Amino acid sequence: MSSRRKPGSGARTALSVRRRPPPPAKQTVPAPIPRIDPAVLRLIGNTPAVPIHFQPENVTVWAKCEFLNPSGSIKDRFAREVVLDAEQHGLLKPDSIILECSSGNTGIALSMIGAALGRRVTILMSEGASQERRQLIQQLGAELILFTSAGRYQTGIEMSREMAAKDPRYFLPRQFENPLNVADHEHRTGEEILRQVPGPIGCFVTGFGTGGTLAGVGKAIKARYPKAQVYAMEPAESAVLAGECPCCHYIEGVADGFIPPLLRDAPLDGEIKVPSAEAMAMTQRLHREHGLLVGTSSGANMAAALRLAKRSRTRGTVVTLLCDRAERYFSTRLFEVDSVPSSSSGKPTH
Ligand SMILES: Cc1ncc(COP(=O)(O)O)c(C=O)c1O
Repeated sequence: MSSRRKPGSGARTALSVRRRPPPPAKQTVPAPIPRIDPAVLRLIGNTPAVPIHFQPENVTVWAKCEFLNPSGSIKDRFAREVVLDAEQHGLLKPDSIILECSSGNTGIALSMIGAALGRRVTILMSEGASQERRQLIQQLGAELILFTSAGRYQTGIEMSREMAAKDPRYFLPRQFENPLNVADHEHRTGEEILRQVPGPIGCFVTGFGTGGTLAGVGKAIKARYPKAQVYAMEPAESAVLAGECPCCHYIEGVADGFIPPLLRDAPLDGEIKVPSAEAMAMTQRLHREHGLLVGTSSGANMAAALRLAKRSRTRGTVVTLLCDRAERYFSTRLFEVDSVPSSSSGKPTH
């Protein structure tokens, strides 16, 4: 019988009592070996953009396939950018530990970059995050600390700041406030879309976590097509941009219940509210009618984009993003066949 630890079972849990037993007294942690030009970095970005035609609506939406990034999500872009920038500016020492609070995708992306560059990574994640995400982080060799958030994502952000204040080895990518997040999406994701999608672009819509994608891509598109409309997709149950109260929803990876600072100067023309049930129905439609194995937020983005494409006054191409892969959601409601969310069961995000 194998004595190997089951992946996902070894996370540290902060603010609660479940803790991993301390390592044997004499165990030494080998110094990370810096690696030069790891192959995986070259696989990030330059994802394809494809036209997706919907019947019976008879409309087409262009989708940028971010789920084809090597760790499976759009977050590979920021992870690469922030870590390479830190390497270039000498911010990472041999004993540095990259520390970030993440609902999953950023954590997986940073863990992948850390593995490729020989850097230690610690990820703070809410206990509500799906098991698949936890397992991937640990499989990539990163340390995982789970926190009990009681619906407050900021708990994890505050924890990371406190840990960094006490231990100078921690390097914080600060995805929620780092201007590199917006700049990378403006100059890479946005520019790729402008090269790939036939213009003029009439509308761009996507959800937001940090707001980096929406702000950066929105800026790039508006710079080329000033008449283009840029919309934020938000869960109807937690429409904070629309001035409503945050509440539970099932669109994982977006809408953490507050307006992120990076969205403040985003060129937004409005928001489109998508109920969780509609997001899941569209995600299943993308799976079953188009063979595109994407996650729930991709379905939510597409539901919003389809509405825009159907509006008779929409002129120009409608563009959205397919942000991550379906495999990340096996343990969620998305894979409960024909499930519809109710407020009384299941494990909602935020
Ligand atoms: C799963 C997922 N991750 C990340 C993002 C974008 O996140 P951010 O706003 O942090 O750039 C989205 C946007 O829709 C998403 O659906």
